[in-house]
Amino acid sequence: MIVLIIGSLGFVVASTPIISPINQLSNAARKMAKGDFSVYIKKKREDEIGELVDNFNYMSKELQQIETMRQEFVSNVSHEFKSPMTTINGFVQAIRDGVVKEDEQKEYLDIIHSSTQRLSRLSDHLLQLASLESEHHPIEKHEYLVDEQIRRVVLSTQLLWEQKNITINIDLPQIMIVADQDLMEQVWMNLLTNAIKFSDRGGVIDIEAKNDRGKFTIVFRDQGIGIPKEHLPYVFERFYTVDASRTPQISGNGLGLSLVKRILDLHKFSIKVESKRNLGTSMYVSINETNDEK
Ligand SMILES: Nc1ncnc2c1ncn2[C@@H]1O[C@H](COP(=O)(O)OP(=O)(O)OP(=O)(O)O)[C@@H](O)[C@H]1O
Ligand SMILES: [Mg+2]
Repeated sequence: MIVLIIGSLGFVVASTPIISPINQLSNAARKMAKGDFSVYIKKKREDEIGELVDNFNYMSKELQQIETMRQEFVSNVSHEFKSPMTTINGFVQAIRDGVVKEDEQKEYLDIIHSSTQRLSRLSDHLLQLASLESEHHPIEKHEYLVDEQIRRVVLSTQLLWEQKNITINIDLPQIMIVADQDLMEQVWMNLLTNAIKFSDRGGVIDIEAKNDRGKFTIVFRDQGIGIPKEHLPYVFERFYTVDASRTPQISGNGLGLSLVKRILDLHKFSIKVESKRNLGTSMYVSINETNDEK
């Protein structure tokens, strides 16, 4: 009997330190399942259980970060939707109530129009990003001439650059690439509309290619307002815009370049930016010519 009691006491003593962290882990896992990612378990051992505790803490930290990003994303999206909606609402109401004189109405309608365009660009970009983010986005690669594609994009934006009296110089040789044509069109479109948007009236935009042993770099160079050095590392992040107050009429949602980056990543192409405040911006896109892959 005494042996039995001592034996079972020994079992309790020996198993307590094991049960305790396992209980903690299972409680913490339950909390996490309910969405509380702030759980942290203090590590008390250096064995396999200690390693499990470490990995569990690592997992909860990572999940917490993802959750914070998700919340920021939702709040950014809501904000980006809200401000043009407020503008549209306010101006439509003012016109409807007869507060706006007839000769001022066109100006108001222009603002309403640009706000609706901004909203529509926002939803396009969001849908596109969501689709690219889900791993299942099929990228359909074909062989095609990218120089011709860029010329077509320049032509399709003619209204935009002519309105600002901007000159576009294109100096591109024939470059055959294998890529998703629709997605790459969005890359050029975003780079070009940025260059136009951030150029002054009468500005010049150069589109050129450099060939370094089968690796082509296509550069979009503008002489616009530029990006201050401290902002450069962030321009490819979602919703990042450089101080919207410097360009209130043309402020965007800060999604274009993140989409560009995502598309280029999917193709294993890359992008680099160089810019000087008030002197202009150059965007360098590096792509592989098809010959390289064959
Ligand atoms: N060519 C450029 N010249 C000066 N600033 C630029 C240029 N391209 C990008 N930027 C800066 O980087 C920011 C992010 O660019 P991005 O294209 O992602 O967003 P956006 O043009 O503001 O909005 P969106 O493209 O979603 O309509 C811009 O807001 C702008 O401040
Ligand atoms: Mg843009």
